[in-house]
Amino acid sequence: MYRSRIISTGSYLPERVLTNFDLEKMVETSDEWIRERTGIRERRIAAPEEAASDLALSASKAALRRAGLRAKELDLIILATVSGDMPLPSTACMLQKKLKAKGIPAFDINAACSGFIYALSVADAYIRSGTYSRILVVGTEVLSRFTDWQDRTTCVLLGDGAGAVILERTRQKRGILDIKIHADGNYWELLHVPAGGSRLQTSEETVRERQHFIKMKGNETFKIAVRTLERLVVDTLKDNNIRAEELALLIPHQANHRIIAATANRLGIGLDRVMLNLDRYGNTSAASIPIALDEAVGTGRIKDGDYILLEAFGGGLTWGSALIKW
Ligand code: UT7
Repeated sequence: MYRSRIISTGSYLPERVLTNFDLEKMVETSDEWIRERTGIRERRIAAPEEAASDLALSASKAALRRAGLRAKELDLIILATVSGDMPLPSTACMLQKKLKAKGIPAFDINAACSGFIYALSVADAYIRSGTYSRILVVGTEVLSRFTDWQDRTTCVLLGDGAGAVILERTRQKRGILDIKIHADGNYWELLHVPAGGSRLQTSEETVRERQHFIKMKGNETFKIAVRTLERLVVDTLKDNNIRAEELALLIPHQANHRIIAATANRLGIGLDRVMLNLDRYGNTSAASIPIALDEAVGTGRIKDGDYILLEAFGGGLTWGSALIKW
């Protein structure tokens, strides 16, 4: 029986830092409000010439370098994003070209902030079935292009970045032990970009009315997120007969410090066993988990044989978890 195992990670964060104090000059907000309500201090903003595939390229190159692999040695590229280079073609194909990996299949996944977990679940299924043996899974976002910089309820939350992992086939009893993905489309309106798709075509009016930017009903999303994630993490551990004490690290999607603290609290684990970097990067949607994972690996917070739990919640609504034995 095959399992899939993460053999390498990489990430890329754009250079430009936008602090809460910078935002104070742009909208009616305060550093204190943003820190207390979200835990965010600053976020990164892509340069004008950087698109989602450029960030993805840097993160992917880092993961390939760490694995000692060339892009040609991959079997498949799966890329999660809601802020791709353009509606057509997929950002995964842009990345494939930049990686000079001609011929390798490549496609995008859109599951908003849960995108990386969704992408990982597809990659894991391909590997378990024996179809492919080495897959690049990327989460990349340039949310700053879809951010309404006049809307204080969203612009203080979001950031740009990319993270990548290389998943490889193993016969050992380690790697991804379980992945759960869920969705409830009844709540799509809580988090969406109204125009620019086939529902509402781009027009002068949609541009004037700022319909191409992310709209979020934050408080409603928050409440559902807390409830849903609390149940999800408990169920994931229970289904796999793992006690919370055995968990070395929780790597949550980085949306809000209060959501993350509630999830950790429900598991009965301290924040010392939670990977947190939203203070520096804000909410980078599909990129947040692979960025945090790369940072956890890079800083030696994950050792061989550790149990780690990934979890995410986002627009769709979508949510998911992945239990990994490193
Ligand atoms: O990424 C995956 C999906 N997204 C999430 O999981 C995000 C979930 N939501 C959240 O993280 C939180 O709901 C927010 C951080 C977005 C907002 O926090 P909240 O505690 O839910 O605040 P709220 O929306 O209930 O707003 C409270 C007050 C309002 O003023 P009034 O009506 O009480 O006078 C807002 O207008 O805070 C006001 N407010 C702000 N004030 C200063 C909203 N945004 C800001 C701001 N600065 N940036």
